[in-house]
Amino acid sequence: MPTNVYVTEEELKKQEKIMKEIAEENKGKNLYYHIETYGCQMNVHDSEKLAGMLEEMGYKYTENLEQADVLLFNTCAVREHAEIRVLGRVSQMKELKARNPNLIIGVSGCMMQEKNVVEAIKEKYSYIDIVFGTHNIYKFPQLLWEALNSQDIVIDIIEDTKNVIEELPVKRDSNLKAWVNIIYGCNNFCTYCIVPYTRGREKSRKPEDIIAEVKELAQKGYKEITLLGQNVNSYGKDLDEDITFAKLLYRLNDIEGIERIRFMTSHPKDISDELIYAMRDLDKVCEHLHLPVQAGSNKILKKMNRKYTKEHYLEIIDKVRSNIPEISITTDIIVGFPGETEEDFLETLDLVERVRFDAAYTFIYSKRAGTVAANMPDQVDDAVKHERLERLIELQNKISLEKSAELRGKIVEVLIEGISKRDSNKLTSRTRTNKVVHFVGDESLIGKLANVKITETKAWTMQGELVEVIR
Ligand code: SAH
Ligand code: SF4
Ligand code: F3S
Repeated sequence: MPTNVYVTEEELKKQEKIMKEIAEENKGKNLYYHIETYGCQMNVHDSEKLAGMLEEMGYKYTENLEQADVLLFNTCAVREHAEIRVLGRVSQMKELKARNPNLIIGVSGCMMQEKNVVEAIKEKYSYIDIVFGTHNIYKFPQLLWEALNSQDIVIDIIEDTKNVIEELPVKRDSNLKAWVNIIYGCNNFCTYCIVPYTRGREKSRKPEDIIAEVKELAQKGYKEITLLGQNVNSYGKDLDEDITFAKLLYRLNDIEGIERIRFMTSHPKDISDELIYAMRDLDKVCEHLHLPVQAGSNKILKKMNRKYTKEHYLEIIDKVRSNIPEISITTDIIVGFPGETEEDFLETLDLVERVRFDAAYTFIYSKRAGTVAANMPDQVDDAVKHERLERLIELQNKISLEKSAELRGKIVEVLIEGISKRDSNKLTSRTRTNKVVHFVGDESLIGKLANVKITETKAWTMQGELVEVIR
């Protein structure tokens, strides 16, 4: 079994040295950065690392793009629509750069792992200063230094890496909840998906490193962690040690101070009994499972290379619910995959009715160059895709409302996260099942666990009343 080659200390020392040099250079200058992030939690957390490095180099965060000295766009390639939106946004920055020639504009993330995108940037977006991908964010200080010291565009893309990067500075968005990477990349090659091409093969972090990070978070007062990976159930398969995702959960559950453990995403083909029992038995592991099903037709699931059937998926749901009755289950669904007929789509609706998901993220199939499905025959007409999406959303909304309504009058445990954005008299909190509850309460309760009684329900957000503070 191969083990991961960690980025050498020498390489990281070099970056640290550059960070210090830039920080020295920036002293007393009042410089600002802004980062726009697209895509999944992976990208959100990568942006927190980029922010961490920028702060070490003496930049402060600003909401205001006009004030920024460094402006980064951390991009997502999962659907074409998202790509077009980012490029549109980036092209608006030309004016900003014309007004402020010292502004450094960088683009990073999954889109930069696509050759045609980098070519287009070189040709059409000459005002961009730095282009880098998903595998080398640790090199950002060096790339910034090069951009600050030359007129040329700095491009640094590597196709894949066995490196797992530890100990980058991180500027976290919250001081209560933290993202923790456990595995990078994906080996599944679902035929519609670009992620294996943009994020490379699976690379697990060593359990000791994850545990050390979580202990440090606990010491700093963090209450909740979310373990991140494209497929967390594959955790450890590429390591020499005797470790699985479930075993990792047991070890993390012991860390004092952490109240809640979440994770995403799980692949149905890899859900083990060991994991279901861990979720049932570990007090800190929350009762929420995000389990993307993608489609209900076995023919389509096969063409998607998902490696499970509708029946198998339903069996998993049964097993999960019989062990953890109060669990909330969410999913991702794609409509209009090549070859999807009305009958196939009805299988998806049937599955949704049978499972009764708490929520579903629904997507229209988007053709991604380089993936197997992009060249499949029988691509579905746009109008048909939209019509199916609407029917699916309508059904799911009805179910989401009904599922939420079941909670009315119940008392649930919430973690209080902050002041509600909509109503400053209220606090915003989350149940263990990941639903949002607003209730009247004092700011001093932020960070505490409490019991609240649910009074009103919508699809995902609810109103409640404080019953008691737990701790
Ligand atoms: N690793 C995760 C998330 C992958 S991307 C997982 O396996 O679930 C998040 C979601 O985007 C996927 O679950 C899928 O529903 C959707 N998606 C991915 N590629 C897509 C495409 N080409 N068109 C439409 N939706 C897509
Ligand atoms: Fe994409 Fe499939 Fe991997 Fe998820 S499991 S990232 S959908 S290839
Ligand atoms: Fe998008 Fe990359 Fe995440 S393609 S969904 S940002 S892994």
